[in-house]
Amino acid sequence: MALTVLVTGATGFIGTLLVDYLVGRGYNVRVLLRPESDRQKASAMQVEAVHGSYDDPSSLREAVAGVRMVIHLAGVTKSVDERGYYDGNVLPVRSLLEAILAVNPELGRFVLVSSLAAAGPADNPDPGVTEADEPAPVSVYGRSKLEGETVSGSFMGRLPVTIVRPPAVYGPGDRDVFRFFKMVKGGVMLAAGDGRKQRFSLIHVSDLVRGMVMAGESPAAVGETYFLTSPEGYSWDRVASIASDALGVRNVRRILLPKPLIRAAGFAGGIAGRLTGRPSLLNPDKASEMVQDYWVCSPRKAARNLGFTADIALEKGIQDTIAWYRKQGWL
Ligand SMILES: NC(=O)c1ccc[n+]([C@@H]2O[C@H](COP(=O)([O-])OP(=O)(O)OC[C@H]3O[C@@H](n4cnc5c(N)ncnc54)[C@H](OP(=O)(O)O)[C@@H]3O)[C@@H](O)[C@H]2O)c1
Repeated sequence: MALTVLVTGATGFIGTLLVDYLVGRGYNVRVLLRPESDRQKASAMQVEAVHGSYDDPSSLREAVAGVRMVIHLAGVTKSVDERGYYDGNVLPVRSLLEAILAVNPELGRFVLVSSLAAAGPADNPDPGVTEADEPAPVSVYGRSKLEGETVSGSFMGRLPVTIVRPPAVYGPGDRDVFRFFKMVKGGVMLAAGDGRKQRFSLIHVSDLVRGMVMAGESPAAVGETYFLTSPEGYSWDRVASIASDALGVRNVRRILLPKPLIRAAGFAGGIAGRLTGRPSLLNPDKASEMVQDYWVCSPRKAARNLGFTADIALEKGIQDTIAWYRKQGWL
């Protein structure tokens, strides 16, 4: 009989592709749907659904009962205030783990999807941050993801927990890196500081979901944390150049944004977000992430312990993603 995996955050960007991947791999997939979840996306998935919320323990117990693995992907990446990050990235981790202890203590694996933001930026781009480095997040988002890790760590020994930390993720359905492609299509590219120094890790969503499942299935991964990332850190120039070729844009003008200006714009965006109740594109939190030079993490531990490498070449990944956006009429 097929093993059941519970996926939280299933209707989000990564979740949608993770559910597809797990179904393709022969798992029976169950998703947890909150009252706010996108019903249309959920019903298109044609998988088992449990309706509940993170402040309703009985619904969580129903969701985790009998499953072999839980991949906890749900989280908040944009919020107008600190509370939103903690409510979305910390409390659900504890509630889910408590529900598992109560009704499914023999669970095979709990995979927590954290973030490079929990570890913070690197001092240098080669090899970037490693799992052995002391975490030093620079944003409220990062600190809330780190606290989620700490909560899950407090259950280790009682439950088999594995933590995965993706860097920036791109691919079909993503709306964040998409904004960059949209700018390139308009012939401009915004860059922080002098525009040449920054490097960042980036992973295609198909590589990422494969890596998450590898981590969840590997006996060696119990109690471990892994970055699932590209083989190297990329420059914005390189990404812009591949994107502009794919989009048929000849000239891309680089507009340099001094770091103090980014911080000031973040401050203003934060006020606007609080006034409108909607997280703005740029707020103090996003600004303090944007001014960092090296959002790079090392792929080595995942390669060594899990045999995981991100296989989709940057050129192909970007070309396919742009083709997808075009097909959907986004670009
Ligand atoms: N995208 C990236 O570049 C990236 C990079 C590193 C780490 N991550 C992590 O990967 C996970 C998924 O990210 P994503 O890009 O797929 O984001 P997403 O599209 O925003 O999906 C996140 C999902 O979490 C659930 N959710 C939203 N608000 C919530 C709340 N207040 N409480 C509990 N659940 C909530 C929703 O799913 P349901 O309605 O189905 O519950 C939502 O679709 C997150 O934990 C994020 O921190 C993402």
